[in-house]
Amino acid sequence: MKFIFVDNPNEGGIKGAQVFKNALANNAKTFGLATGSTPISTYNEITKSNLDFSNKISFNLDEYIGLKPTNPQSYHFYMNKYLFSVKPFAQSYLLNGLATSEEAELARYDRLLEKYPIDLQLLGIGKNGHIGFNEPGTPFDLTSHKVKLTESTIKTNSRFFNNINEVPKYAFSMGIRSIMSSKQILLEAYGENKADAVAKMINGPVTEQLPASILQTHQNVIVIVDEAAASKI
Ligand code: F6R
Repeated sequence: MKFIFVDNPNEGGIKGAQVFKNALANNAKTFGLATGSTPISTYNEITKSNLDFSNKISFNLDEYIGLKPTNPQSYHFYMNKYLFSVKPFAQSYLLNGLATSEEAELARYDRLLEKYPIDLQLLGIGKNGHIGFNEPGTPFDLTSHKVKLTESTIKTNSRFFNNINEVPKYAFSMGIRSIMSSKQILLEAYGENKADAVAKMINGPVTEQLPASILQTHQNVIVIVDEAAASKI
């Protein structure tokens, strides 16, 4: 793992956008994208830049089940708002949280991921060490799957909703196996509420109880952290 220590998320965004720029310079074709608070500064830097993704492909890590793409809490909506409206990709794939056949939807995503292997995958990390919506206990060898969100994740993500009862209980997520297939991984973490998860990701045992710990076994991982998130390393 290579570490980039930054003073704050804004500086992290500058470094994050640089990683995207380098990937483009190395002819990356497919980008794995994340949502949540963490990547916003990176997306802000990308939208201000002259980086061009118009002949690239993107995949998103996850989507809530049951939310329409027009719902402001959906990850479809988030991606349009923070990135795609300014930096469109040739093709952006997201899991469809309204799919009538969940099984067919997951198979569709896996087929696409096989066809377009990810060159750079952007990740945040949950307080409980999740990556994507792969919660503690998720087998490392899963590809796309349906997830029952943990109470911890529902509570943490309720900050984006009017109240906790509006937070969906289920989501679709790319699996750890798909994430680990990416050529390069960029994980960003900011703030002291990420400090425990970051420390265990780096120094703890590789265990399904801390999904991000699997990244210790990947050959090409960049971690951008601020002082607070790095405080327990
Ligand atoms: C989002 C995702 C999640 C988040 C994680 C951290 O697509 O897959 O794993 O990266 O929950 O969320 P924030 O950045 O809001 O702290």
